[in-house]
Amino acid sequence: MQHILVTGGTGTLGRLVVARLRDVGCKVRVLSRRSREGGEDIEFVIGDLATDEGIEAAVEGAEIIVHCAGSSKGDEDKALNLVRAASRAGARHLVYISVVGADRIPVVSGVDRAMFGYFASKLAAERVVVDSGLPWTTLRATQFHDLILTVARAMAKLPVVPVPAGFRFQPVDPDDVAARLVQLTLGEPAGQVPDIGGPRAYTAADLLRGYLHANHRRRLIMPVWLPGQAARALRAGANLTPDHADGTRTWEDFLVDRLGSPRVVPT
Ligand SMILES: NC(=O)c1ccc[n+]([C@@H]2O[C@H](COP(=O)([O-])OP(=O)(O)OC[C@H]3O[C@@H](n4cnc5c(N)ncnc54)[C@H](OP(=O)(O)O)[C@@H]3O)[C@@H](O)[C@H]2O)c1
Repeated sequence: MQHILVTGGTGTLGRLVVARLRDVGCKVRVLSRRSREGGEDIEFVIGDLATDEGIEAAVEGAEIIVHCAGSSKGDEDKALNLVRAASRAGARHLVYISVVGADRIPVVSGVDRAMFGYFASKLAAERVVVDSGLPWTTLRATQFHDLILTVARAMAKLPVVPVPAGFRFQPVDPDDVAARLVQLTLGEPAGQVPDIGGPRAYTAADLLRGYLHANHRRRLIMPVWLPGQAARALRAGANLTPDHADGTRTWEDFLVDRLGSPRVVPT
């Protein structure tokens, strides 16, 4: 039985990774900042990767670490704390989830950083993993359906909804990502592996229209031109991975499952 630590094992992706690892007979430890009830073959440990509290105990005895913990800022520091502890503990495989475009979206100016600093923070965390001295695997994924839904819900509260002009997204189902991540976790360290993206790309406006239609709502959609080099890269499709459209569930299918709404095909 393999002993695996999953950071972020309470999050959208991490929860699915934990369930899949448990289903194939792994013993899973989940790191969380809050105390949680464990279960058969799942142990929860409290720790905070930002402050480094509890991390040494969390990595102890873990042969493999799947690093799914993340937030909009500071993933480099979280990764640093994790790899330091993991190196001391002698982990034999570190698996990291990053984002498609991390290496192609330049975060140069203050404007870039304010809007798209997340991509720089993921790239910096990727480098921490590469430089860790641990055997590693990194997978980059496109935006998860759940994230797009959260953003669409928030935006739809506005009477007129601004969307970034020229941006496209290729949303992927987090369970498709979890399946790939688990396969990689149970394999040998593989370095940077091919990206994973959803089955098709949509304009930002089409994603929003799909959500509005599913909710029987109407809103005026207003394209907004975003400044900066990062926005330019996004307009050029740096966040897409057309050659790796391997996800199985479309945005429309996700909306049907999540909102119980009629199937829609975006214009
Ligand atoms: N969402 C996307 O569209 C997307 C796309 C590509 C890649 N990714 C990457 O995939 C990973 C998972 O994303 P997600 O959307 O599933 O995340 P999520 O649902 O927002 O969950 C975040 C997870 O990170 C943990 N976490 C956050 N800060 C932490 C800290 N300081 N110490 C310990 N744990 C911490 C949280 O645990 P507790 O709250 O229990 O402490 C939670 O389990 C992230 O690295 C993200 O960058 C996401």
